[in-house]
Amino acid sequence: MPTMDQVNIKDKTFALSIPESDILQAVEAVAQCINRDLAGQDPLFVCVLNGAFMFAADLMKRIDIPCEITFVKLSSYSGDSTTGTVKEIMGLNKSIEGRNVVVVEDIVDTGITMESILRSLRGKGARSIRVATFLQKPDALQRDITVDYVAMQIPNDFIVGYGLDYDGYGRNLKDIYTIVK
Ligand code: IMP
Ligand code: MG
Repeated sequence: MPTMDQVNIKDKTFALSIPESDILQAVEAVAQCINRDLAGQDPLFVCVLNGAFMFAADLMKRIDIPCEITFVKLSSYSGDSTTGTVKEIMGLNKSIEGRNVVVVEDIVDTGITMESILRSLRGKGARSIRVATFLQKPDALQRDITVDYVAMQIPNDFIVGYGLDYDGYGRNLKDIYTIVK
């Protein structure tokens, strides 16, 4: 799909805010840090579905050390705002015991989702747990969580594209679009 200046999804209009070239440059920078930090540590990436699928794919293509990936599926959003409760739809089906885990998320917004993921991963014997997120909205953070790798920081506005959705739509966009108010 070509890059458009604006997209309409359901009742809302979104304007191009981060083009694909900037996204991929930021993903490359995170991959380089992980390649360096986790060399020889056989990392296990835990991709948080649905939103992180595109980031995880582009990130993994740039990881050049031996590693594995597994998936969990959570849901917390309804429409364009967080519900505050996180549902686990598909749990871990792989042991993380003794592993150096890297949680791969699309965005850390309030931090409620990440806090709940970290809570469910702790106590399962991982050697270390790191967090890599494509986006972070620092102004929205409500939880005391440490994010080890952030590809891009964005203002506290609702966005779609690159895996992130509005009511299920917009995940297929290769660029990021911000809601027009
Ligand atoms: P948190 O629990 O508030 O940190 O929200 C994290 C989850 O909400 C992310 O994994 C996303 O799926 C979703 N989310 C947060 N902000 C946005 C946004 O601007 N657009 C689409 N989804 C978002
Ligand atoms: Mg998500």
